[in-house]
Amino acid sequence: MAQGKAPRTVVTRKLPDIVETRMAELFDVRFNASDVPMTKNELCAAVAECDVFVPTVTDDVDADVIAAAGPDLKLIANFGVGVDHIDLAAARARNIPVTNTPGVLTEDTADMVMALIIAVPRRLAEGEKQVRAGSWKGWAPTGMLGHRVNGKRLGIIGMGRIGRAVAQRARGFGIEVHYHNRHRLPDPVEEELGATFRDDLDTMLTDIDILSINCPYTRATHHLLDERRLSLLGSEVYVINAARGEIIDEQALANALNAGKIAGAGLDVYEDEPRICADLLDLDNVVLLPHLGSATFEGREAMGDRVITNIRVWADGHRPPDQVLEGWA
Ligand code: DGY
Repeated sequence: MAQGKAPRTVVTRKLPDIVETRMAELFDVRFNASDVPMTKNELCAAVAECDVFVPTVTDDVDADVIAAAGPDLKLIANFGVGVDHIDLAAARARNIPVTNTPGVLTEDTADMVMALIIAVPRRLAEGEKQVRAGSWKGWAPTGMLGHRVNGKRLGIIGMGRIGRAVAQRARGFGIEVHYHNRHRLPDPVEEELGATFRDDLDTMLTDIDILSINCPYTRATHHLLDERRLSLLGSEVYVINAARGEIIDEQALANALNAGKIAGAGLDVYEDEPRICADLLDLDNVVLLPHLGSATFEGREAMGDRVITNIRVWADGHRPPDQVLEGWA
């Protein structure tokens, strides 16, 4: 890119107006007004002719797309924190840095996890459906009983920003927090969160009441919760996932739920979005949300700000602040 020229930028999905307006002031940018996700051919054509590419979680930026990048593509500035949809190794091989938007969707996503932690055991979605269907007959001593969350044991897989924000909230609800993570947190952080480190994931799964998945999706976490690990959970356990669908074997989860081997699930993400395993759809003990974790006006605007900052810092010749580190995947 010639010094001083606005970077030619392609954005794959419709972003909030305020973000698009600011981007249009700063960059030579092509938006996707229709918001229809691009086909693979369209993605390949887009990366062939821009300096900066701004994809989202709905774009599969695989090795073919990276291979189609033109000589000018010098930055992939993802609108979102997860970068599992981008082939980082292929980008690295072409010397194209990838950035994301960490930190700005932590609180919103943790709120959504907490909402599911309450909604599933307390049967909120089921109750709401009953009211709307006109089948509610009024209060009854034994009507629609669920399970108390206060005093229960929560196991968190992945104690990054979001996992820690979930732990903080859970503590406020009187829930005992256990966590499994690649690295143990420093003592003062563990103390502040009141969280107990569990080195062995399998053992943690055998003695919790609620499981929350909050780790990134990588090769190492693909189907981390497979049929075997699901079988370690007791029939009273609830599974919550607002991270990435591929971390759970969705069919195995549906089978376990159908067989009553686990108590329920709250899901915001799926293996093959927007397709959802048909065996989950009819279950009453499952709350299914449409990938809403970061869906607040404030969060999406802040994500846009981070994208803009990354592009501007890169265009000024510096390392963008949110460059995804090697070894992420
Ligand atoms: C992310 O940022 O990774 C979310 O899943 C999409 O907003």
